[in-house]
Formats: sequence, structure tokens, C-alpha cells
Amino acid sequence: MNYLNNMQRRPRRNRKSEVVRSLVEETSVSVKDLILPLFLVSGTGKKVAVDSMPGIFRYSIDTMLSEIESCLKLGISSFDVFPAYPEELKDAKASESFNPETFYLKALREIKKQFPEVCLMSDVAMDPYSSDGHDGIVKDGKVLNDETLEVLGRMSLAQADAGVDILGPSDMMDGRVGYIRDLLDEHGFTDTSIMSYTAKYASAFYGPFRDALDSAPKFGDKKTYQMDYANSKEALIEADLDMEEGADFLMVKPALSYLDIIKLLSDNYPLPIAAYNVSGEYSMVKAAAERGWLDGERAMLEILTSIKRSGAKIILTYFAKEYAQLGR
Ligand code: PBG
Repeated sequence: MNYLNNMQRRPRRNRKSEVVRSLVEETSVSVKDLILPLFLVSGTGKKVAVDSMPGIFRYSIDTMLSEIESCLKLGISSFDVFPAYPEELKDAKASESFNPETFYLKALREIKKQFPEVCLMSDVAMDPYSSDGHDGIVKDGKVLNDETLEVLGRMSLAQADAGVDILGPSDMMDGRVGYIRDLLDEHGFTDTSIMSYTAKYASAFYGPFRDALDSAPKFGDKKTYQMDYANSKEALIEADLDMEEGADFLMVKPALSYLDIIKLLSDNYPLPIAAYNVSGEYSMVKAAAERGWLDGERAMLEILTSIKRSGAKIILTYFAKEYAQLGR
């Protein structure tokens, strides 16, 4: 069949009005697809702006509870809480991560107590608690894999015990999903889910997040554990392992430069795919919009829709509240 020069076929007819366009629209984003990341600090009465992320704050538990309440009213019910720890509480073994009295675990408990209906996600990785700023235990300049699993395991049990619904191992150590799954099951946490950061790339787009948490690595980079952005095949290996090791969700991170990876995993795996629209992807849009260089709202809609179109069911995004406020 030759469609060229065939004016009986006029694709523009399906774009002729708002109503027709919405009839043919294939992809739409619902607030139910979104998880809002939130930054937690210790203390009370705090709501401190993150300079490199306009519109995003570090909350203490009391102000975070009000923020969650206002998000719930807008239809957002899933939250991923990340703690910012002061330097003096960090050590080489991330000991604070499994101290039951630590402000992060207490806050997670408090959130589940006040809002049992929310889906609460946490981050399993050593970096916010590590004096080396790495996601694993460092020895002689190397990040040790198997020694790190033990810490991740203790951290996971402590978070599950605090009532977290979905654990998010974001560390990229080998074997961690299976290790954590076994431990959870042994301790009776068979209902605690795991959203594995399956294909997490060593990315420049995490910059603002590391500012927000003061969690940048103290030396070197994360390239011996996070993936090389030149590669897609190893995403399949990671996904195979996560499937086998019992992950409930597969995540791709970042999202925008990795739409092909989202599509690859969504075409090949039956598990729900999540994409993390990371801090740098958010801040780029905000910075350009502040200068009047692009329309921030339209850019947000295009970005979130394209992430879904590529195959992600779930999007972790700092835009979640702003999107919900549009009431779409
Ligand atoms: C920690 C972690 C990071 C992000 C989520 N969990 C940073 C990193 O790996 O350095 C980044 C999120 C973002 O940029 O929004 N392991």
C-alpha cells in the first residue's frame, strides 16, 4: 500500500478539535500513578527550601504530616521519604540507618500511624548515613558488595518494622533484592514489597538531590555500582535477577534520557515498571521556566506523559503535587 500523496488519508482529521484529540489520546497520567518524594530533616517546625529544586522543601516530621495531608486531599497517596542526616550522625557503616530511635524511622512510624491509608516507600541505601557518601561500605577506596548487603538487610528490617509498604533498594549492590527478600520473609514481613532500582544509571541528573540530602560521595563517583549510560543490555541482566530474586516492581532511573530502557523492560517483563523522574530533570524545567525560556506547566505535562507512553506504569516525580493541583 502506498500512502504517499494519498489525500484520502488525512491524519490531521484526528487532530481537528480538543474533543477529537482527547478521543484519540492513547496515554494519560493519573494522580494514582504518581509517587511524591519528600525530604525529611530532624526537629520540628522546619520547612526549608532546597535551593536547587524550586518548590521543594526539607520538612521536619510535623510539617511533613501537614504536607502529606494536603497531598492526600489532591489525590496523591504514595510518598517516598528520604532523610537528610547531619554529618555528625554519619559513620562508615551507616549505623544510624538501623537505630530504632533515629528520626527517620520514628517519622515513618508516625506517618503510618496518622495516615494508615497511604502507601509509604523508603530508600534502602547507605549514602545518607555514610561518612563516605557512598551507597556501600568503603575499604581502601573500594565499595564492598557482600559486606554492604548485611547493612542493607538491617536497614530493610528496621524500615519494614516501622511500617513501610514498599522498600526501595537504590544502592545497586549485586544480590541485594534476594538477600533483603529472604530476610524480610524470615522475620514475618512477607507483605512488605520491594521496588527494585533495577536499572539505575550513574547520572549527572542526581545533582540537586545530593544537595538536598548533603549526600554527595566524598571521593570518586558511583560508576562501579551504578550503570553506564552507554549501555542498555545490562538492564536486561539486572531485570532478570530482580525478577528471580522476588522484586515486586522494576524501576528505571533517571527517566528522560532512558525512555528506551523503560520501553525495553516494559516490553520484556510482566512486572509493573516504575520510572524515577529525578531531581535534575525537575530542576532543569524549573530553571528554564523561571527565566521564561519555556512554559513549565506544558513541559511537565509532556514529560510525565512521555514517561508513561514509554511503558512506565508508575512515576516517582517531584512534579506530583503540581500535577495534582491541575485537577486533571
Ligand atoms: C540514593 C539515591 C539517589 C537518588 C535516589 N536515591 C542519589 C544517588 O544515587 O546518588 C536520586 C534521586 C534524584 O536525583 O531525584 N542512593
